[in-house]
Amino acid sequence: MAGFVSFPCVLLISSLLLASYACASEVELDYSSLPIETGLSWDFYDSSCPKLESIIRTELKKIFEKDIGQAAGLLRVHFHDCFVKGCDSTVLLDGSAEKNAEPNKFLRATAFEIIDDLRELVHKECGRVVSCSDITALAARDSVFLSKGPDYNVPLGRRDGLSSATEEETLENLPSPDNKTGILIDALALKNLDATDLVALSGAHTIGLAHCSAFCNRLYPTQDPTMDDSFAADLKKVCPTEDCPPTDSNTTTVEDILTPDEFDNAYYVNLVNRQGLFTSDQDLYTDSRTKDIVTSFAVNKDLFFEQFAKSMIKMGQLSVLTGNDGEIRANCSVINSDNVELIKTVVEEDEDAAEF
Ligand code: HEM
Ligand SMILES: *[C@@H]1O[C@H](CO)[C@@H](O)[C@H](O)[C@H]1NC(C)=O
Ligand SMILES: *[C@@H]1O[C@H](CO)[C@@H](O)[C@H](O)[C@H]1NC(C)=O
Ligand SMILES: *[C@@H]1O[C@H](CO)[C@@H](O)[C@H](O)[C@H]1NC(C)=O
Repeated sequence: MAGFVSFPCVLLISSLLLASYACASEVELDYSSLPIETGLSWDFYDSSCPKLESIIRTELKKIFEKDIGQAAGLLRVHFHDCFVKGCDSTVLLDGSAEKNAEPNKFLRATAFEIIDDLRELVHKECGRVVSCSDITALAARDSVFLSKGPDYNVPLGRRDGLSSATEEETLENLPSPDNKTGILIDALALKNLDATDLVALSGAHTIGLAHCSAFCNRLYPTQDPTMDDSFAADLKKVCPTEDCPPTDSNTTTVEDILTPDEFDNAYYVNLVNRQGLFTSDQDLYTDSRTKDIVTSFAVNKDLFFEQFAKSMIKMGQLSVLTGNDGEIRANCSVINSDNVELIKTVVEEDEDAAEF
């Protein structure tokens, strides 16, 4: 994939000088000062699955070398998981009202597959001790890092939810690209996320794709006056009227025209240039409550990286299940009590035990 260069940082650590060039930044955060939900910890799997993080990073590195677009898909799944009923991976449940709800329609099928493949690798190594929710959170972190974004620690110990959200709950909790800053600020406040978190987290749109339907209303029937003319002209070529609602077009375009596959602060530069894709993006630079935050990230990538890491750590702890709540799924797409494979294995184990 053009433009995607990835270096195995570990291999370069022996040469510290080189490492500082080749590796994306490890954010300097005072982790001990960050609020952590009861039941989560930074070293949760240190004894039960010490290789967890290296297994995930190594596997994702391989996948992203073939297709860096998968990083965006994985990052978005974690966001959609956390915003609806918390980071309990119920968005992964096949056939659920939550997964099938309209705002989740463009979550990538490949992202779900990758998460369960990671689970399989991890469970082969450690047994069924690591939750799909933690794997999803780590995959999101590595998607950021391996796209040249910041590296940061993830508090672990999440458990997997036993029931998905309803369609209505899903619609209520996931913001729309049509929503303006005021609505987004109010929506995030309900989750204890503030305007700075909103601006930082929206910076995830520095990677990935969007379907025409998410921004057509900014092109037709009249062009959004906050959109740069040449940007609008290009978007109209990508998404002609026929590709705009109500048709079910699958045409997509990149969310960050400057560096589409790189996790950097170009998203904010785009907003300053009036080249943000969604209303929810561009309005962050129009609204006086968030404009200065956008500017501060546009001119300072380190500041953005540090805030993004902090906001992700916060978002990643929304309504988590811990301790004995929930379960550790044996298949990320299905709860254990509905898992035919698992029930079969348990019965076989019981039969084995009965022989003694
Ligand atoms: C603040 C409100 C947000 C709104 C309204 C919003 C909306 C959207 C929409 C409409 C798309 C396009 C989906 C498509 O057409 O295929 C998208 C893509 C994406 N969003 Fe957001 N988003 C928001 C926040 C976030 C956050 C907090 C994250 C992660 C931290 C995130 C990560 C992504 C990524 C990575 C993509 C690209 C997905 C891909 O390429 O498959 N978004 N978002
Ligand atoms: C956010 O946008 C959606 C889609 O346009 C709309 O239905 C919803 O009412 C908006 N949210 C609020 C709180 O206005
Ligand atoms: C878009 O993709 C979906 C899912 O693959 C497919 O069902 C639909 O027919 C496609 N739409 C068009 C207009 O090709
Ligand atoms: C996990 O569950 C899904 C949905 O029931 C099924 O399609 C898939 O084959 C299962 N995966 C494994 C590895 O058993």
